[in-house]
Amino acid sequence: MSKLAPSLLSADFSKLGEQAELVSKNGADYIHVDVMDGHFVPNITFGALVMKSLNKCDTAPYDVHLMITDPDKYAPGFVTEKTEYITVHQEACTHLHRTIQGIHELGVKAGVSINPATPISAIENVLCDVDLVLVMSVNPGFGGQKFIPVALEKIRELAKIRANEGYDFVIEVDGGVDLENAKEIAEAGCDILVAGSQVFGADDIAKRVKEFKAIIE
Ligand code: DX5
Ligand code: ZN
Repeated sequence: MSKLAPSLLSADFSKLGEQAELVSKNGADYIHVDVMDGHFVPNITFGALVMKSLNKCDTAPYDVHLMITDPDKYAPGFVTEKTEYITVHQEACTHLHRTIQGIHELGVKAGVSINPATPISAIENVLCDVDLVLVMSVNPGFGGQKFIPVALEKIRELAKIRANEGYDFVIEVDGGVDLENAKEIAEAGCDILVAGSQVFGADDIAKRVKEFKAIIE
């Protein structure tokens, strides 16, 4: 049984709280918060102040995806009573192990993400320390891109490593997830599926959340 984390990147920013509540009420397990700095990725979204104002709303816990160059400096700002995971990119961290330790010291779960071109071997030495591994199935920066199939192989490999070594991180995939590929992704061993444009771009957002959940549960 896999979980669904709708990405706010594709929400209507003029009614962010309303839409975050809508997906939560209809079965979203997490709210995926995409933070982009225009430096690590070629796009800018929102920061901690915007995310914190969502605390007033009745939503699922936050799964924060930091696509920024200096996560050590900014991660503390994203800790709220609703923050469950803070995930950083392997490619953005000079001292990845230290960054993961720092997130744990903030009292939240720590995730590490790898871009499509980054092999699992790049995070092998921190797999025992992380709570979540986020496999990017598009190059980060934008919603609505096409799923890159190498992500499926990575999910399978991570699931194998986890079973062999007795680790307990969850596996998440992000980018190009739709109703067609969701089942295969879940069956490959993915615990949390992020979906942005396919959720918030739907005519009936509530119905789309339920459709995803029916496929992956
Ligand atoms: C991309 C973001 C994703 C994005 C996914 O850089 O990290 O979370 O919102 O959007 P879709 O589901 O439209 O590919
Ligand atoms: Zn994301």
